Amino acid sequence: MKIVTFYGSPRKGGNTDLLLNEALKLIRDAGHEIIRFDLNDMNIRPCQDCGGCETTGECVVDDDMSPVADAIRVADRIIVASPIFFFALSAQTKIMMDRCQAFWCEKYLLKQPIPEGPKGRLGLLILVGGMKQDIGLKCAEATAKAFFRTISVPHHETIGFLNVDSKGAVAGHPTAFEDVRKAAQALIGKDEES
Ligand SMILES: Cc1cc2nc3c(=O)[nH]c(=O)nc-3n(C[C@H](O)[C@H](O)[C@H](O)COP(=O)(O)O)c2cc1C
Repeated sequence: MKIVTFYGSPRKGGNTDLLLNEALKLIRDAGHEIIRFDLNDMNIRPCQDCGGCETTGECVVDDDMSPVADAIRVADRIIVASPIFFFALSAQTKIMMDRCQAFWCEKYLLKQPIPEGPKGRLGLLILVGGMKQDIGLKCAEATAKAFFRTISVPHHETIGFLNVDSKGAVAGHPTAFEDVRKAAQALIGKDEES
């Protein structure tokens, strides 16, 4: 299967990165193809609300969102991994999601949702927050749900970890790596061929 992954933290080797890599190791070892986008390193402009996508479902802005949109179209599974910033997904993650307005137009205005494909389309959301309050997880989950449904991913699992703040602190979490491995395994399915 094709597993498209969005990494939304600017902190290389940080908590989200460590958890995402744990998931990707399991997925890679199972023989699946991984397409990873490190959003902080990409040139993706925020949605301009120009209406250019309303009649075509294609964004008129030519930047690094073009390969992202191509990958979203062919994905069997999609992973979003983001830290919580100001009770929400990181800006890097949100900018990419806003640009999926073109898919919203394609699905809801033009009535052309992305076809499901032979393996279906499933999602996984990995969240890490430094605070103990879960409001950030709730806000991020609401946004990510809108994203997944817009790109015709009908189901996704969310795993979130709170009170994980300093770089690499997730290594001391009692269950995080095991939780991520289980979620990654559920995403690809036990007997799924690549
Ligand atoms: C700009 C900024 C805003 C943040 N806002 C929140 C927040 O609202 N809630 C929270 O739980 N943690 C917040 N944090 C803490 C991060 O979520 C936390 O440090 C996390 O472990 C970072 O993940 P990373 O190492 O993958 O980048 C914030 C951190 C930054 C830099």
